[in-house]
Amino acid sequence: MPDDREDLPGPFDLTGRTAVVTGGARGLGRGITLALLAAGADVVSLGRSPLPAELTDTAAALGRRLTARTLDLADTAAITATARDVLAEHRIDILVNNAGVQDRHPAVEFPLEAWDHVIDVNLRAVFQLCQLFGGPMLDRGGAVVNVASLLSFQGGITVPAYAASKGGVAQLTKALCNEWAGRGVNVNAVAPGYMDTELNSALLADPVRREQISARIPAGRWGRPEDVGNVVVFLASPAAAYVHGQVLAVDGGWLAR
Ligand SMILES: NC(=O)c1ccc[n+]([C@@H]2O[C@H](COP(=O)([O-])OP(=O)(O)OC[C@H]3O[C@@H](n4cnc5c(N)ncnc54)[C@H](OP(=O)(O)O)[C@@H]3O)[C@@H](O)[C@H]2O)c1
Repeated sequence: MPDDREDLPGPFDLTGRTAVVTGGARGLGRGITLALLAAGADVVSLGRSPLPAELTDTAAALGRRLTARTLDLADTAAITATARDVLAEHRIDILVNNAGVQDRHPAVEFPLEAWDHVIDVNLRAVFQLCQLFGGPMLDRGGAVVNVASLLSFQGGITVPAYAASKGGVAQLTKALCNEWAGRGVNVNAVAPGYMDTELNSALLADPVRREQISARIPAGRWGRPEDVGNVVVFLASPAAAYVHGQVLAVDGGWLAR
């Protein structure tokens, strides 16, 4: 006799939900998009890169809806207009604020325009998107997953704007949790460790720094997009219903060292 329980949704099942992922076409965002699709969600990616054919093919094979809208997260007016358009077409249940930029200069020389750009994309846009997509989730439920960093906890070297922005993302996650947890919205963050993506191209190209970092990671390897994607699925899923305001490190043990 077939077991009816096999048809019941599991605690990580996102079938019937729609997620917005910023920067969902490449890097960690691509891994997050793939993991959400595999868990049953439809995905709207917001960013500047077009979706690669391999992602749209995977979505089609899984029977999910994957769409993209061009958006520069430094542009507040464009964010407002894009969110309005997306919300006119979709009920958004999950917001993943993944997109982010890095810029490296010694603090004393750090150009203020570069400071503003990093803060605008990594922090202001995150808050604006939380307002625009999180607002409609209040009272009907939803999940926000912000992408923080090890530099939400540590200061880094020659990355003061990035560290300030990611410290801000961690604090914003807790601030929104305190207002929204009681209204059915889970606000959490993942803090990836050292990931093998373009964001780290300068570190990966420097054999000395690359080796120093690898040797300090207890897991013995840099992280991969799927390492983060699967944790985002957890935080967006019913399995994390009672998880609020956390900044969950996905770092191969880096912070434990
Ligand atoms: N890699 C790591 O080791 C690491 C560690 C900790 C945290 N993180 C965080 O993880 C997130 C993803 O990083 P990643 O490693 O995937 O970096 P990445 O490979 O450099 O990709 C950056 C992503 O951000 C998007 N983006 C950047 N500027 C944007 C803008 N102005 N408007 C719209 N989208 C923009 C890009 O999308 P488009 O190309 O489509 O614009 C792309 O998807 C970031 O928040 C980063 O800070 C990364």
